[in-house]
Amino acid sequence: MRIIKTKDYEEMSRKAANIIAAQVIAKPDCVLGLATGSTPIGTYKNLVAKYEAGDLDFSEVKTVNLDEYKGLTRENDQSYYYFMHDNLFNHVNIDLANTNLPDGTKEDADAECAAYEALIKSFGGADLQLLGLGHNGHIGFNEPDSHFPVATHCVDLQERTIEANKRFFASIDDVPKQAYTMGIGTIMSAKKILIVVSGEDKADTVAKAFFGPVTPEVPASILQLHADVVLVADEAALSKIPQ
Ligand code: GLP
Repeated sequence: MRIIKTKDYEEMSRKAANIIAAQVIAKPDCVLGLATGSTPIGTYKNLVAKYEAGDLDFSEVKTVNLDEYKGLTRENDQSYYYFMHDNLFNHVNIDLANTNLPDGTKEDADAECAAYEALIKSFGGADLQLLGLGHNGHIGFNEPDSHFPVATHCVDLQERTIEANKRFFASIDDVPKQAYTMGIGTIMSAKKILIVVSGEDKADTVAKAFFGPVTPEVPASILQLHADVVLVADEAALSKIPQ
């Protein structure tokens, strides 16, 4: 694993965007695996700026998102569909027909998850998968568990995740309790993984995930076994790693 240490969130966002830009330039029809959450917002802003400067062309890029809340419509401003359009898709020349997220409105979880997994397989996996890191070590919505879930599946969100995400909803009762997420195997099938982390509040999780034992109790720890991972994190997030 390569670690790129940045002084702050802005530098983290710039450096992460540079890595994604390099991927798009090297392979204009690449498959980008994308993530939501507050951490990648700055990365997307930098990608939009590069597009506006005429330095990036998304016209042939395909995307697959990590996850989506079950039960939220696309119009709901807390859906990840809405987030991706708001933060990236509406601001670059991507063909919306090439963008993909699990459909949270599909009631039949098994059918929707199997279809999404098959779609990613048909692409041969993502060329580059962007990830954020949950406070409990989750990636996508793969919560701490006794095993690593392999394929796209429906998860019951943990209390801590519901609690962390409630700031985006009118009340905690409005936070969805389930989500569809790529599995750990789906994520690991990406050729390259880029994980962005910022802030002191994630420092313990970073130390556990990347320097502790590989365990499904800390889902991100599996990334230690991937051959091409870049962690772009600020000083605060790296403040507890062994020196
Ligand atoms: C959500 C997303 C994850 C994301 C995590 C951390 O739970 N499903 O993909 O990594 O939040 O979010 P944040 O970057 O806001 O801390």
